[in-house]
Amino acid sequence: MSTGIPKKRVAVLISGRGSNMGALIEAAKDAGYPAEIVTVIANKADAGGLDTARKQGIHAQAIPHRDYAAKQRHEAAVSEALRAARADIVCLAGYMRLLSPEFAREWEGKMINIHPSLLPLFRGLHTHDQALEAGVRVHGCTVHFVTAGMDEGPIIAQTAVPVKTGDTAETLAERVLSVEHETYARALALVATGQALMQNGRTVFRD
Ligand code: GRF
Repeated sequence: MSTGIPKKRVAVLISGRGSNMGALIEAAKDAGYPAEIVTVIANKADAGGLDTARKQGIHAQAIPHRDYAAKQRHEAAVSEALRAARADIVCLAGYMRLLSPEFAREWEGKMINIHPSLLPLFRGLHTHDQALEAGVRVHGCTVHFVTAGMDEGPIIAQTAVPVKTGDTAETLAERVLSVEHETYARALALVATGQALMQNGRTVFRD
């Protein structure tokens, strides 16, 4: 059912297969969902998610970082594409680039990310190996606002999964991914409706 409230325009930034991107596209097909995916941008020309998006009729473009001599230039091109798409919200979904503080600040409060761990545990890469190494019995995923510090921004939503005996990084990654998609769609809806917003470095939740 349509709510009559204008949907927020969302750009998704990816580097690879884009299964989280696909989940957001799927969620946004619901007429009552408060956001629409208006463009997908990849920093790699061969990112599998570009084709997935195009097949769904969504505008998708590669802005390969390798084509730019400096990080700042690449980020300027990405920002320009985001503005051209009139993006209200930017979703990082497996976007494997460290962002400069300037870029993070430019989109602060409007840019969110999904990370495959229960932050603040296990920042950075190889989170499933980190979880197995630490011996935790629960693991999961986090959607957070993006700030200048890597994987440090205020948390919007989290989902936990059990760590099972005999788990490998692969089996654990699969279990976490199976909850990432729903978690990301739920978190984006909270941000798009204004039920979750970033204020003074924290997430404020409203009814
Ligand atoms: C996901 O595990 C996400 O949490 C992490 O990178 C992976 C991307 O997977 N940031 P996909 O491209 O969304 O399938």
